[in-house]
Amino acid sequence: MIEKNKENKNTSKTTGHEWDGISEYNIPAPRWWLIVWIVCIVWALIYWVFYPTWPVPGGHSKGILNWSQQSQLNESQMEITEKKSTYLEKISKMSLQEIQKDPNLMEFALNGGRASFKENCAGCHGSGAQGSKGFPNLNDDDWLWGGTLDQIQQTLYYGIRSGHDKARTSQMPSFGLDKILTKKEISDVVDHVISLAQTDKVGNENGAKIFASNCASCHGLKGEGNRSVGAPNLSDAIWLYGKEKSEITFSVYYAYAGVMPYWTGRLDENTIKQLALYVHSLGGGE
Ligand code: HEC
Ligand code: HEC
Repeated sequence: MIEKNKENKNTSKTTGHEWDGISEYNIPAPRWWLIVWIVCIVWALIYWVFYPTWPVPGGHSKGILNWSQQSQLNESQMEITEKKSTYLEKISKMSLQEIQKDPNLMEFALNGGRASFKENCAGCHGSGAQGSKGFPNLNDDDWLWGGTLDQIQQTLYYGIRSGHDKARTSQMPSFGLDKILTKKEISDVVDHVISLAQTDKVGNENGAKIFASNCASCHGLKGEGNRSVGAPNLSDAIWLYGKEKSEITFSVYYAYAGVMPYWTGRLDENTIKQLALYVHSLGGGE
């Protein structure tokens, strides 16, 4: 072994130390490695000067940039709040129709409306605003009280039979309960109503007469409905309380009076605007 080592070409580059025949090379680190190393040191020094690095009593050195995660967070949050408040300010000053023409503002308003809908309305109207028995679907173009931006906004402000002074109100008479019509007459008029919606069903002549004198004032002669009193269209395929003969009979016998709460005073003006825009955008907006 020793013999071999002595023949080694690198013998001259050893440190001269030798233990049990094992000698130690003395080869300098490669130049590229040295350069990287020095650059790292210089970088660390610069970093040290500018950024928080060293632990010192009571915290850490701050660096001349005075940077911290907290200050960065504050900055980005301030940016968001600022953006939000400029949007909100614009929304409060502009009409619904003007907002609709501004795509950026609309995006902001629809997001706000969607969030507020989930929180305040989905419990009754469903998370997709699809409605259920007694709670109208807000995605379709069948409206009880009206589907323009202003009509929707009015519904939101004051509600329907909500007890607010300006609420939308009307009351269909309970034709059975209040003995306005006999059971036979109700059956006839319901047959007539069914024939309005499903033209393949034979009408009921007596029912048509009863309808003309008892129902047409609200629902229209052809059952087309009347938004000024929230009377549903009876000649289409959409039913708030069900399309079966038994369900329609129930509607006529007892008469429903759906209640929608008012939101003025409960939600701020801006939120109601965003909600109106959101509901209007769902597909049935007029
Ligand atoms: C307590 C249940 C309830 C809540 C909560 C509720 N609604 Fe309603 N909403 C109703 C009912 C019931 C009607 C139908 C009233 C009727 O029969 O005329 C209605 C009707 C409406 C209408 C009118 C639909 C039409 O065809 O004209 C709109 C628009 C509406 N709601 C939007 C909303 C929005 C937006 C919210 C949330 C801010 C909301 N509703 C919260 C129960 C509710
Ligand atoms: C004073 C106005 C008024 C009169 C008169 C009236 N209705 Fe109505 N009707 C309404 C209103 C308003 C509603 C909706 C109630 C609600 O939204 O809760 C309604 C709802 C209905 C419904 C339920 C519709 C659905 O989509 O489920 C039927 C069916 C109906 N009426 C039939 C009749 C018939 C038949 C008569 C006559 C015998 C009649 N109505 C007379 C106002 C009236």
